[in-house]
Amino acid sequence: MSFWWRPLLFVLALGLLALILTTGGNAGNGWMLFAAGLLIYLIYQLRQLSRLSAWLASAERPPLSGDGLWGDAFYRLEKLLRARQGAQQKTAADLEQMLEATRSLPDGVVILDQDNRIVWLNAAAERLLGLSPKRDLGQFVLYLLRNSRFVEWLMSEDLARTLTLDSPSAREHTLSLQIVPLPRLQKMLVARDITELARVEAMRRDFVANVSHELRTPITVILGFLEAFEDMPDAEPGEFRKHIPLMREQSERIRRLIDDLLALAKLESEPDAKDETVDMPVLARRLADEAETLSQGRHRISLGLDCRARLIGNSQELYSALANLVTNAVRYTPAGGQIGIRWSMADNGSASFSVADTGEGIEALHLPRLTERFYRVDRGRSRASGGTGLGLAIVKHVLQRHQARLKIDSTVGKGSTFTAQFPPERVIPEPTMPAEEA
Ligand SMILES: Nc1ncnc2c1ncn2[C@@H]1O[C@H](COP(=O)(O)OP(=O)(O)OP(=O)(O)O)[C@@H](O)[C@H]1O
Ligand SMILES: [Mg+2]
Repeated sequence: MSFWWRPLLFVLALGLLALILTTGGNAGNGWMLFAAGLLIYLIYQLRQLSRLSAWLASAERPPLSGDGLWGDAFYRLEKLLRARQGAQQKTAADLEQMLEATRSLPDGVVILDQDNRIVWLNAAAERLLGLSPKRDLGQFVLYLLRNSRFVEWLMSEDLARTLTLDSPSAREHTLSLQIVPLPRLQKMLVARDITELARVEAMRRDFVANVSHELRTPITVILGFLEAFEDMPDAEPGEFRKHIPLMREQSERIRRLIDDLLALAKLESEPDAKDETVDMPVLARRLADEAETLSQGRHRISLGLDCRARLIGNSQELYSALANLVTNAVRYTPAGGQIGIRWSMADNGSASFSVADTGEGIEALHLPRLTERFYRVDRGRSRASGGTGLGLAIVKHVLQRHQARLKIDSTVGKGSTFTAQFPPERVIPEPTMPAEEA
């Protein structure tokens, strides 16, 4: 609604009144009245204008009222300003939220201007790159991160290339750096901590190198024999025959290695094993019998069944894991030693399968690494007894899948005890036998 005609009406009415007075012969008074009216009107307009100016200048801007055209203008102006203020506040809040998110990002973020001076950095950049928001803002990043590879990389302006670097502030951390272009020739330097990735990659390389090495040895022996046979076309069959046991032994070794690798791969690729009820006393007895066969009378083997508890788990996996503990005890205990296999339950409902031997024992420094693939205390000895060094890695995996843990106690020269501890949730305390069987 517009009120533009009201002031016009006022001026016209004033003019008409002055005209009437003038025609009435009172010309001086008529024009005086007209001039006075115009002056009052001008003062009113100036007052409204000054109110508006003061209102615009004030910070709080309290509600502004007025009538007529001014009231309308005040109302619209106020509405416009409030809307703009609201939009500004929202933009500022959005910006603050984005900055907050970037501040707490796990990746280090550094904003650089066109001369590579630091404009802004987040907390992770402080930690990973050793920069300080107090000290380093406005500094040239190349003066602060002086690594020659970093300098060469940043100057190359090849934005597609990432750089892998040791963290300047925490050497044991590996970083991957990347540049992202921003508007106004600024750029964002992103530093990601890839320590874990680098560790896994190193493990993979080690693993491949270990497997290749383990396979190469027996294959070299077999190839050696085959080449020798080729060079003696006239040799007697008996000449060949006497080498067959060694060739066979080496072939067995390759097969065992491949079986173990496949077992590990299967454990890793299948997230969950099929659970069943495993009769642990029966399994323990079977393992004790197998230990007797392997030992061939060289050790005194005892079996202690302290409880009849059964386990919820995968019998095939549990068998292969626990058999490795028993085989190790026989393998690494000199003739005349003792081996005790025990299945028992604790008061809290957990159950343990343990294998104790009076063997050579293991130095404490080796214990944390024993379950690593291919880790052997005495490589030569383990290999001579047919070990591949994968047994305890398989044990660890299988136990993890059963929420169980492996405990190793060992004293050099006295012997070792390997214990698999199963949580109460996996243990069925006493088998419920049918009445007639009981
Ligand atoms: N009871 C034990 N007494 C002494 N040392 C042991 C015992 N059990 C394991 N070890 C040491 O731990 C190493 C790793 O054992 P692990 O079962 O993983 O491999 P392995 O027996 O050499 O080969 P695999 O089990 O694959 O045939 C062994 O090489 C041995 O040095
Ligand atoms: Mg073993």
